[in-house]
Formats: sequence, structure tokens, C-alpha cells
Amino acid sequence: MSHPQVGIESTQQEDRLFAPPPEFCAKAWIQSREQYDRMYRESIDRPEEFWGKIASELKWFKTWDRVLEWKLPDAKWFVGGKTNISYNCLDAQIDAGRGDKTAILWEGEPMAQGTPPEVRHISYKQLREDVCRLANGLRKLGVKRGDRVTIYMPMVPEAAVAMLACARLGAAHSVIFGGFSSQAIVDRVEDAESSIVITADGGFRRGQVVALKNNVDEALIKTSRVKTVVVLKRTGQPINMTAGRDVWWNDVIAGQPATCDAEQMDAEDLLFVLYTSGSTGKPKGIIHTTGGYMVGTYLTSRYVFDLHDSDVFWCTADVGWITGHSYVVYGPLSNGATTVMYEGAPNYPDFSRFWSIIERHKITTFYTAPTAIRAFMRAGREFVDEHDLSSLRLLGSVGEPINPEAWIWYQQVIGHSRCPIVDTWWQTETGSIMITPLPGVTPTKPGSATLPFFGIDPAVVDRDGVEQPANAGGLLVVRKPWPAMLRGIFRDQDRYFRQYWTDVRGFYFTGDGARRDQDGYFWIMGRVDDVLNVAGHRLGTAEIESALVSHDAVAEAAVVGMPHEMKGQGVAAFVTLRSGFRPSEALKKELLEAVVKQIGAIARPDQIRFTDALPKTRSGKIMRRLLKELASGGEIRGDTTTLEDMNVIARLSTADEG
Ligand code: WTA
Repeated sequence: MSHPQVGIESTQQEDRLFAPPPEFCAKAWIQSREQYDRMYRESIDRPEEFWGKIASELKWFKTWDRVLEWKLPDAKWFVGGKTNISYNCLDAQIDAGRGDKTAILWEGEPMAQGTPPEVRHISYKQLREDVCRLANGLRKLGVKRGDRVTIYMPMVPEAAVAMLACARLGAAHSVIFGGFSSQAIVDRVEDAESSIVITADGGFRRGQVVALKNNVDEALIKTSRVKTVVVLKRTGQPINMTAGRDVWWNDVIAGQPATCDAEQMDAEDLLFVLYTSGSTGKPKGIIHTTGGYMVGTYLTSRYVFDLHDSDVFWCTADVGWITGHSYVVYGPLSNGATTVMYEGAPNYPDFSRFWSIIERHKITTFYTAPTAIRAFMRAGREFVDEHDLSSLRLLGSVGEPINPEAWIWYQQVIGHSRCPIVDTWWQTETGSIMITPLPGVTPTKPGSATLPFFGIDPAVVDRDGVEQPANAGGLLVVRKPWPAMLRGIFRDQDRYFRQYWTDVRGFYFTGDGARRDQDGYFWIMGRVDDVLNVAGHRLGTAEIESALVSHDAVAEAAVVGMPHEMKGQGVAAFVTLRSGFRPSEALKKELLEAVVKQIGAIARPDQIRFTDALPKTRSGKIMRRLLKELASGGEIRGDTTTLEDMNVIARLSTADEG
């Protein structure tokens, strides 16, 4: 892997500093820099003591023998401990007196003129009953400890119920984002060797119905692995039910008891697989285990979002992403919080929807992505100003670097300059938040994720692992293991080692470039590998290229990122055609469709350029750096001495733009 950005100086200058409001500090879990420094030192110097103490705040059927066993790249946390995360998210909360408290507060998307949307308040007691009924039903269908269950659902409470039911049984879930296409289901079901899919007839999104069950049907033509499909009725749209394979959710839970003992899981038993894009080939199944993930998401939820019993917490992520796993479901529920789920699009029926949700449910803590903030900014503040947002006390951002302009808008227009902002850096692989302000402690700088969380030891280094001086760009690594870290790539431990532990020997390499400023604050500069971050979603250039090349007309394709006002990064594709094919608008459309069909609408290229050759090195490697410069509308300025055919550049510059 090469890292073209390493050594490039960051030109961003941002001197504004915002201290946490005193009224916030007064009630916060962590209230002073001294307290943070003391706890941080302890967590780094004596991690076993620190994490052991935190883990004891949760329920274990059997205490661990050792907090950590570390032999690079394999970490084992809470070795010998037995627990269950579903038990901690439900039973432990009910035992603590939260049985009647709302666990999940859900709002559906449809909203006819003048009528209020559908809202459900599901108490901890009710949620446990729902989870147990489904767990019992799944068990009857043959699901057992150690299996993988695929979940392909809309944003309805039953998505969380399904995850918690799997965890209760000790079966790992593999959640697939509902916006992915049928091909994505095929690949993931095959890789995870999953014989059961939980889905819904459809879901509501931006006023349309999404044909989830149809996508599953289409996928199951291409794989024979799946024997059972559980179907939740959500939209009522007509669907096909295949006899002997498809069963309605309601029939699965009918007559099932409302109690179900939680399996006593080993701390290192698999909790879930979640597929994410890497720099090469097919998405990789990131694996997370039970104990460490539980402790990591529990503690970060508590301290980063300063969760108290009175909070109503809304993380807008879909459960199909890691953010939904960690901060819609497991983190908030293991803290006994009220977690909000909204089914639909932020701009349905218009751009005031999010703000009306905050007003209606008196949301206190709001966690969303920069791409959404930029879209709201562009729509205009009049959508915001018509709503009472005085319940808010804390704002969060995740998924990509937030540009200072969006940060300031978020702070002033949404937070009324009253709410701290936590810009949280982390990844599917890290499981929980890694670099972040603590809202009662850290003075924030717009655009910086600021300081490491407890127990996290990140650094900006060069390829040899040497820490860079203040403000010099480099590779972002983590030098010590942490509880919620990935334990590997499903059935591919070699790839796990190669992908994360060989670029910078001895350290976990994140794939991100960063710099650390004179105050020790981290500034994330974005990916240095071939991964794009489009609207906060991770996409591998290789996946999009392979979708393009699957079209008969395409000989070769190269995909690069380009700056995009809303999405942060857009997708630019350079395509060469096989002989006998000619560029045309119709072909362009077909190629766009091929990408949407194989990956999903989020991967649709913003630009397709036909060209008769791609710039390559003498060894045949596509020179993406040149393509990036072209796609960004720039000229080629960089070094071209390794380019094989100099004429390609001239021809590319005049390539057909789309
Ligand atoms: C990027 C999402 C800057 C980063 C939780 C990382 C961020 C990738 C931030 C992981 C942030 C996430 N500031 N960049 N606050 N948060 N990223 O796996 O490039 O979908 O490596 O996890 O998103 O994306 P993933």
C-alpha cells in the first residue's frame, strides 16, 4: 500500500476555541481537565486495573480471570469471563428499576398532511418480552449459539429486537444496511455462511416504499445457503412468500413465552460480524466479540454523551452501520438510556423533519453526520427556527471530518451556542469512540476530534512508526489494544494481520492520515488508502470498479474520490471501453445502474469519464493520484516520471466528462 498523502503539510488553520459551558460542566460525569488527565494516565499506565473497574459496573455470570491477554495482533479481554450483552441491555436495567422507562422511542416516516406520525414508546420490560419471544421463536426455527443470522431491515424497533434476540441466544448477527442491493446480500450471506435472514416486506423512505423482501428474493436466486427467511410486516405491500422457506415474524413469535434465559457467553465469543469496505476486493467481515465490545460501548456512551437517566438520546445512524450498532442499540441500552430511532429520511416531508422530532420528543442529545449538517445548512435555517430546540444539551458528529463552517453552523443554529459539540473519531474496526472531546471538559476547536478517550493511545507517525512533530501530517495509528477493538476479519485472520498490523510495524494502522497540533489535538485528514468516504459511508474504490467492469462494454475502470460540497467526497470513474463499444449517454446510464444494482445507490458515481487509456506506471499500476487531480478539476501538477505513456495525460484531460 502506498501513502501519497504522508508528508503533505496540512494547510488548515483554525484558532477558535470553545470552552464547555459552566452549567454543563456542573452536572457532567467528568468535570475537569485534572480529572480527565488523572483518569487518562491511569487508563494508559494501568489498563487492567482501569478496565477491570469499569467492567465491574456491568453484570457478569462469571468474573474474568485476567483483564487482558495481548499477543499482537490478537487481543483477549476479560479472559474467562461470562456475560451476555442482551442481559445487560435489558434484565440489568429492569433490575435497576428502569422496567417502565422507555428504552426505544420510535417514530415512523409517513406523515400525511396535518396528521402526526406514528410513534411507539417501548419500555425496557416490553422490549425484553419482545426480544425473548423472538429469541424463543428463532430457537424453534433452529438458530443456535454460534450461528450467524443475517438481518436486513428498515429502521424499525424490530431491527434492534432482532439484534438483541441473536445476542441473547449467542448467535452472531450480520446486519446489512437496508440501502444495499441484492448482490450485497448474496456476498455477505455466503461469506458469513448464514442460513437465516430476518427482513421486512419493505420500509418507508422519502415517501417511497423500499422493496426489502424483493431484494432478498432476488439474492436468494443466486445463493442456496439460506433456508429460512423471517418477514416482518411493515408496509403491507404485496410480496411473494416462498412456501417452506419464508415465515412471517408474527407467526414466529406466536405462542412463544415472554421469557428466555440469556446464554452465558464467553467474553471472547463472537457477538457480530459487520461488513465494511477495505482498500482491496470484497467487503471484509469485521468481527467483534462480547465482553470488550460491551465495556467499550458502555463507557464511551456514558462519558462522551454524558448520559444521565433523564436524557433522550438520538443517534441518527442506521442500524446497518457500526454507529447504529454501538450508539443506537448497545451503548445507550447498556446505560439504561432512552434511545430514539427514526425510520425515514431527514428531509421527509421537508427539511424540518429532524427538528420537529427533537421538539416532539424533547431530545437532549443529538448525534449525526457532517453530510447531514451540510444538507441542512444549504436548505436554510428557516426550517430550524420554526422549532423549539431548547431540550437539546449536547450535539455530536461522526463519520467524516467536519468542516469548520458546518461545525459553527451546528453550534449556533442547532445548539444556540449553548450545547457543547463532540466530534467523535472512530471506525467499524474500533467498535467504540476513540478520539473525542469530553463535553464537560475539553475546549473544542471546530474541525478537530481533539483528545484520546480513556485507554486509547493514538499517535501520528511516519512509516517507521516514529512519532511526528506537532502539526506535521502522518499516519494515524493506535499503539495499545483497547477493549472494543476488532478481533479479526471473519474467516481471514491473515488478511486481518496484513491489513492492519503490517503498514506500521507494531501498531494498529487506521488507514487515516492525521496531524496533532501544539495542544495535542488530533486533526483527521481523511483516508490515505483506496477507501472513499461518501456522505459518511465507507466505499472501496475496488468494489465500484468491479461493478463497472462487470458491464460487457467496459475493459478497465479506475475510481477515485473528488471533493463534493454535500457528500464530502464524491465518486469519479474513469472507464475504458472494449473494442466495438462507443461512449454514449445511454451507456453512461447503464454503467450507473450497474453500480446501483451491485452495491446500492450510495455508490452511484457522480462523474463517469470515458477515456481510451488509463495512466499507468511501468509496472502496470494505475496512477490514481493523477486521476484524482483530474477529477478535482485540477491540472496534473505532481510527478509523472513513472508514467508509462506520457500521451495518456493529454488524452485524459480532454476525456468525455459526465
Ligand atoms: C472517518 C464510522 C474525521 C475516518 C464510525 C474513519 C472520521 C472512517 C470521523 C471510519 C471524524 C469517522 N472525523 N473522520 N469524527 N469519524 N471518520 O468504519 O476516515 O464507517 O477511518 O466508521 O470514517 O468509517 P466507518
